[in-house]
Amino acid sequence: MKTVTMLDGRPLPVLGLGTWSYGGGSTADYSRDAESIATLRRLIEMGYTHLDTAESYGKNHCEEVVGQAIKAFDRSQVFITTKVAPEHLRYADVHKAIAGSLRRLDTDYVDLYLIHWPNRDIPLEVTFEALNELVADGRVRRVGVSNFDVPLLQRSMELCATPVITNQVHYNLLHREPETNGMLDFCQREGVILTAYSPLKDDVLTHPVVARIAANHGATPAQIAINWLVRQPYVITIPKSSDIEHAQENLDALQVNLSDGDVAQLNRIG
Ligand SMILES: NC(=O)c1ccc[n+]([C@@H]2O[C@H](COP(=O)([O-])OP(=O)(O)OC[C@H]3O[C@@H](n4cnc5c(N)ncnc54)[C@H](OP(=O)(O)O)[C@@H]3O)[C@@H](O)[C@H]2O)c1
Repeated sequence: MKTVTMLDGRPLPVLGLGTWSYGGGSTADYSRDAESIATLRRLIEMGYTHLDTAESYGKNHCEEVVGQAIKAFDRSQVFITTKVAPEHLRYADVHKAIAGSLRRLDTDYVDLYLIHWPNRDIPLEVTFEALNELVADGRVRRVGVSNFDVPLLQRSMELCATPVITNQVHYNLLHREPETNGMLDFCQREGVILTAYSPLKDDVLTHPVVARIAANHGATPAQIAINWLVRQPYVITIPKSSDIEHAQENLDALQVNLSDGDVAQLNRIG
């Protein structure tokens, strides 16, 4: 799969797998664990080696499902991103949160650990003191942030002892905030990966221009939406799917060749 080079020099696939709703959404759901674990294993085999989860997903249970799924693989074959919740950003709480995530994921380390949302009540210095320790002792391989604006990302880059690898933000054809608030330009300039979440939301899949361009390419709207994101430098995306056919369709999105004219039309719809 096409990759983007992280600031530590290592490659990251442009397409990862979102896992929101595996193991539940805002509450835990244990009723479909066997099916979810089998699906995740199948998707990893298909090429989704980067899984994006969070301590908050399914009230902790999503991490347990991901942890069960990755047991079938050599740990070094998968790249796990998880996130510390904004209410856990005090020094001792970060240490407690990573201990919980590692236990639920049943692993010794996470590949990438993100601050899920900023919390203006807790100084970033305090959070990064803990995060820097986690990197130093190996429980966290890399650090990133999510839902940060440019000044907060800049401050994070000053406080983080290692490169801030990514800012994970809401970005898709119809939600263009990272373009208007300067985040996309900043990330591309600095080599920070912009991870686009919710790539298929906000009526992207039913937009008439997206549908027309998809039809011209014998592709689907989801493929156009994904391709438009990851053709941009330093942009990766993490569509969620628990449907094998959708997941394959999303992987095949990387094969679409959008023309300059297609891109110009897509750029105008946001
Ligand atoms: N950092 C944050 O604050 C934050 C916020 C939101 C999300 N995220 C992360 O980003 C991931 C992705 O975002 P998201 O889950 O909000 O939205 P999304 O990935 O844009 O959309 C997921 C929805 O699209 C459907 N889908 C997937 N592929 C499809 C296809 N080819 N054709 C038609 N429908 C398709 C899925 O259903 P099926 O399962 O049936 O395919 C699911 O209902 C999350 O799972 C999570 O890991 C992070």
